[in-house]
Amino acid sequence: MNGNTLELRDLTKRFGGVTAIDNLSLTVEPGQVTALIGPNGAGKTTAINLVTGFLAANQGDILFDGARINDLPMHERAAAGIARTYQTPQIAPGLSVLENVMLGAHKDGRFRLLDGLMRPGLLMQEQIRLRQLAEAALELVQVEQKFYLRQGADMAYGIQRAIELARLIVQKAGFLLLDEPAAGLNHSETAHVAAFVRARADEGRAVLLVEHDMDMVMQVSDRIAVLNFGRLIAQGTPDEIRSNPSVIEAYLGVDDEDEDTTA
Ligand SMILES: Nc1ncnc2c1ncn2[C@@H]1O[C@H](COP(=O)(O)OP(=O)(O)OP(=O)(O)O)[C@@H](O)[C@H]1O
Ligand SMILES: [Mg+2]
Repeated sequence: MNGNTLELRDLTKRFGGVTAIDNLSLTVEPGQVTALIGPNGAGKTTAINLVTGFLAANQGDILFDGARINDLPMHERAAAGIARTYQTPQIAPGLSVLENVMLGAHKDGRFRLLDGLMRPGLLMQEQIRLRQLAEAALELVQVEQKFYLRQGADMAYGIQRAIELARLIVQKAGFLLLDEPAAGLNHSETAHVAAFVRARADEGRAVLLVEHDMDMVMQVSDRIAVLNFGRLIAQGTPDEIRSNPSVIEAYLGVDDEDEDTTA
């Protein structure tokens, strides 16, 4: 898997009077986990939305393997290998766990359907291939087989999060944007997610990890970038970030669960 380098240059996104991303420059390299951390509302999800093309930047450049992709529609960015997970798991109602994972391959479904109309046997073969791919992906994220045909929407939260990760595998994306993949998970589930994230980078993919779980971030990341009010206030190795005074002041010093200052 070559390439998959993302470069953000002086990127800015405003929502009315709010500057959600403020002149952000950041490089995300293949083979590495780059964490993007910062307080609630710092602009982390907005940064992901700019890279996927869900939102358009007001200023700046988004370069993927050196090519400017600002003007590419979402499906073309997906086809180029950029994939994401959502802060809240996106589970399609009425579909099984397996079908929910198969949805990950949706990006080229149009061509498959056309092929299938010409040659129905091909569609069947494709479906079988896709199903096998989805089963392998579910095995990779350690979802038990007994759940594959159950309704995705009825599954425990940890399994819904695992479905999100399995979709990335089915999409065969080289660039992964993960929006708080461990949020709401217990210790052992979080450890699985951490191992998954590290393994994807080790096989040569690029990973941008947005996550509030600092133990996990410090453990899996090669580099960490810190956002505060949309601005990059620091970047460096986990050790550098841990001891950076402005990061401690803006983020690490404050316990997320404990921000109530109304007393
Ligand atoms: N679609 C939108 N319309 C208007 N304002 C928005 C929109 N999306 C985000 N914002 C604002 O932009 C800022 C950044 O939000 P964003 O969701 O990117 O933060 P975040 O770092 O992901 O926070 P969290 O850790 O809570 O998920 C916030 O002030 C938010 O209210
Ligand atoms: Mg967010």
